[in-house]
Amino acid sequence: MRVLLICLAGLLVCLKTADSHSLPQKDYDTSGNNSSSDPDNSSGLFDFGPTTFFVRHVFRDDNKVDKSIYAHKNGKVKKILEDGMAVFVEFPKPRAYLGNKDGIYVYDTETEKLEKYGNLSDNVIGIAKENRSDDLYILTEDHVVYKVTEEGTKKVKINEAEHVEKIALDWDDNLYYIGANNQPYVVASDGAKKIEGLPANPTLTLISRPPIKIKHGAWFMSDKQPYIIYPNASSEPYVFNDQEKLEYEKRIRDLEVIFLQFRNQTEK
Ligand SMILES: *[C@@H]1O[C@H](CO)[C@@H](O)[C@H](O)[C@H]1NC(C)=O
Ligand SMILES: *[C@@H]1O[C@H](CO)[C@@H](O)[C@H](O)[C@H]1NC(C)=O
Ligand SMILES: *[C@@H]1O[C@H](CO)[C@@H](O)[C@H](O)[C@H]1NC(C)=O
Ligand SMILES: *[C@@H]1O[C@H](CO)[C@@H](O)[C@H](O)[C@H]1NC(C)=O
Ligand SMILES: *[C@@H]1O[C@H](CO)[C@@H](O)[C@H](O)[C@H]1NC(C)=O
Ligand SMILES: *[C@@H]1O[C@H](CO)[C@@H](O)[C@H](O)[C@H]1NC(C)=O
Ligand SMILES: *[C@@H]1O[C@H](CO)[C@@H](O)[C@H](O)[C@H]1NC(C)=O
Repeated sequence: MRVLLICLAGLLVCLKTADSHSLPQKDYDTSGNNSSSDPDNSSGLFDFGPTTFFVRHVFRDDNKVDKSIYAHKNGKVKKILEDGMAVFVEFPKPRAYLGNKDGIYVYDTETEKLEKYGNLSDNVIGIAKENRSDDLYILTEDHVVYKVTEEGTKKVKINEAEHVEKIALDWDDNLYYIGANNQPYVVASDGAKKIEGLPANPTLTLISRPPIKIKHGAWFMSDKQPYIIYPNASSEPYVFNDQEKLEYEKRIRDLEVIFLQFRNQTEK
């Protein structure tokens, strides 16, 4: 049995291991007495709140992959959905929208309560919520995107988006996706447009809503290099300043600790 874990904490940073035994063994310092842990002096780039979501992939002998969603909070790990892999965290609200094999769920990170959302029963592999409304976008297992309205009771296919692997919205509620060729697109009124100015063959790609300090555009990562991608289909590399670099390194250290606790509590 091989286990692959992906961290989904806003998708700005990610720890990946194809093999659960390949994490480096060292002592992690969690004390964090540096300035970057002081919220008054943080850039706001890596604030995700106390709950971190993980999707655990278990590769079975028959080549099937089981995917389940876990939440980590205050050192404790809890399995939330047995057959899910889509997570949208609404931080700073204490709410996450989760996609499961049988539809959409809402998880309250304060009360730790899980509820079914609406009455759709699609196998949801990607999910994002608009900032200015309660409407959602979901990506289903057949790589089709739907807009979900009326509290999860109605869905409309987004015809412009084809062969979709991952979806995200920006703060202005523009829809972006990563297509089958690993390239990001933006959905405009006159169809989907490929984002320009990016590497020809992006790898390890992630797409998400950007940190709140970035007002326009979405966040795209290719092989650990972040970019801001815009609704006019242009892009620019995002360069961390010194403080953000420190925060990023701290975030990675924190995640490694969380990751170890996660493994400790799930692989028994
Ligand atoms: C604090 O910051 C210094 C320099 O920026 C770094 O060398 C050190 O490892 C940090 N310590 C902790 C606990 O993060
Ligand atoms: C962190 O702070 C404590 C005291 O508050 C100090 O003893 C320790 O050396 C500091 N660690 C680092 C890495 O700065
Ligand atoms: C999110 O939407 C609210 C209105 O509901 C708006 O005031 C706010 O500016 C939006 N956030 C961002 C970062 O654009
Ligand atoms: C979901 O509920 C709405 C409103 O009650 C209804 O119109 C719709 O047919 C239902 N959809 C499914 C898939 O049950
Ligand atoms: C696209 O939008 C970005 C961000 O608003 C802007 O900086 C850039 O100049 C625009 N590019 C074009 C070609 O309009
Ligand atoms: C904030 O962090 C930066 C970079 O670590 C540091 O140079 C600065 O002194 C800090 N400011 C305060 C008020 O702590
Ligand atoms: C793993 O769990 C054991 C007991 O449940 C505990 O003693 C140990 O410190 C944990 N290790 C980590 C890295 O959390």
